[in-house]
Amino acid sequence: MTPDGECDTFVAQRSGELDGEVRIGGAKNSVLKLMAACLLAEGRHVLANVPDISDVSLMCELLEAMGVTVTRADHRLVIDVPDELNTEAPYHLVERMRASIVVLGPLLGRFGTARVALPGGDDFGPRPIDMHLQALESLGATFSTAHGDISGTAEVLKGSEVVLEYPSVGATENVLMAAVRAKGRTVIHNPAREPEIGDLIDFLNQMGARVGWVPDRLTVDGVEVLTPAGSGEGFEVIPDRIEAATFLAAVGVCGGSIYLRHAAAEHMTMLIRKLTEMGMHIVADDEGLRATVSGRLASADISTLPYPGLATDCKPFLVTVLTTASGVGIVTENIFVGRFRYIDELRRMGADIRTEGHHAVVRGTERLSGAPVRAHDIRAGAALVIAGLAAEGETEIADAAHIDRGYEDLAGKLSGLGAAITRR
Ligand code: EPU
Repeated sequence: MTPDGECDTFVAQRSGELDGEVRIGGAKNSVLKLMAACLLAEGRHVLANVPDISDVSLMCELLEAMGVTVTRADHRLVIDVPDELNTEAPYHLVERMRASIVVLGPLLGRFGTARVALPGGDDFGPRPIDMHLQALESLGATFSTAHGDISGTAEVLKGSEVVLEYPSVGATENVLMAAVRAKGRTVIHNPAREPEIGDLIDFLNQMGARVGWVPDRLTVDGVEVLTPAGSGEGFEVIPDRIEAATFLAAVGVCGGSIYLRHAAAEHMTMLIRKLTEMGMHIVADDEGLRATVSGRLASADISTLPYPGLATDCKPFLVTVLTTASGVGIVTENIFVGRFRYIDELRRMGADIRTEGHHAVVRGTERLSGAPVRAHDIRAGAALVIAGLAAEGETEIADAAHIDRGYEDLAGKLSGLGAAITRR
C-alpha cells in the first residue's frame, strides 16, 4: 500500500488499439518550483491546474514544516506564507524528494539564511548540486556543510554575472529565485531553457520580479519587495509535457488514435519530430493534439539533450517504444548517464537491449512477454507500464508509489483509453 492507501502494484495486460481522449494535467516539474517561489513573498498565493501527485504532497509537507499553511482542493493550492519562516528543510523530507533543494534560492533571497539537508544520489546516479552552490556564491552567498546539511548565508546578495557551465534546470531555478531579491542586476549565462523555467519566470514576474529572457541569458533586476502571485482564479501551471509524452508512447506501442487535451505541442517539438519520423501521425490544434498510429512504428536513433533537445525524462518511454518497433535504434543518454537501470527490467520482459556506457542498442521484437518487474523511479515505472500494454500475458509492476510521485491516476487515464490496466 502507498501512504495514500493505494495498492502498490500496477497490473497490465496486452491491450488492443487505444481510443479516446485524456486530459493532460499541470507540470510536476513546474508546480514544485512555483511552490518554492511562494516562499519569496508574504501573503496568499494561489496555484491552479495543480496535479494530484505525491511529489506535490511532499512539497506541501516541506512548506508546512517551514511554517507555511497550504490548502489543497480541486487541483488548486492556496499557499499562505507568513512574515517569519523556519528556514530549514529537514532530511526526512529532502531525502524523499530531491526537488526540495529549490527552496535554497528563495530562502537565501528573502531571509539571507537557509539550511537544507543535502540530497543523496538516486536511482539514476549521483545528483550533485555544485552548480547551484557556485551560482549562489557568485551572488555573495557562502556555504558550509555539517551533519549532512548545507547551510547558506548571505548578508546582502549582490547582482552579478553568473555563468553556468551546463544549463542545469535546478541550478538555474535556484539562482533565479535568489537573484530576484539581490541588489542590482544579475545576468545568468547559459541558463536552462525548459518550458518550466519560462513558467517560473512568468510567476516571479507576476510577483513583481523583473526577469528578462533573451535566447542565451537571463537578466534579473533585483527588487526589494515581492507580492503574492495568482490572485483571482490562481496562476495556471503549464501542461505536463512528460505526462503527454507518456500517452504518446502508449499509443506508440498499442496503436490507435488518442486526443491529448491541454497538451502543449509547442513544448514537445523535438519529441513530435522524432515520433513522426518513426511513423506516428500527430496533429496539434489549439486545445491539444491528436496522435494516430496504424501498424508497427519504425525504429529511430535517440539522443537526449537539454531543452529544446529530446528530454531525458522521455527516454525510458521511447526505449519501450523501440523495444516493439521494427528495426534497431541507438539511444544515447547525455544528461543522467546512469539512467538505464529500468533496462534490466525490460530485458526480463524479453526486450533485446544491449548497453555500453551511456549508449543502448535496442532491437525491436514483435512481442514482449509479461513478467513481474519493479519501478525504480517515476519515468522508469511509467515505461514499464507501457511495456506491459504491449506484452503477452500479465505484467506486474511493483513499487507503483514511484509512479504516483509524478502521475495522477495513470492507470485510470490509460484504462479510459481502453488499455487493460488496474492496480492491486
Ligand atoms: N548537475 C551537476 N551539478 C549540479 C546540477 C546538475 O553536475 O549542480 C548535473 C546532473 O547530475 C545531471 C545534469 O547536470 O547530470 C542535469 O541536471 P539538472 O540540474 O538539469 O536536473 P535537475 O534540476 O536535477 C530536473 C528535473 C528532472 C529532469 C532534469 C533534466 C525536476 C524536479 N527534476 O532535474 O526530472 O530529468 O531536470 O531535464 O525538475 C523527473 O521528473 O522524473 C525528473 C527526474
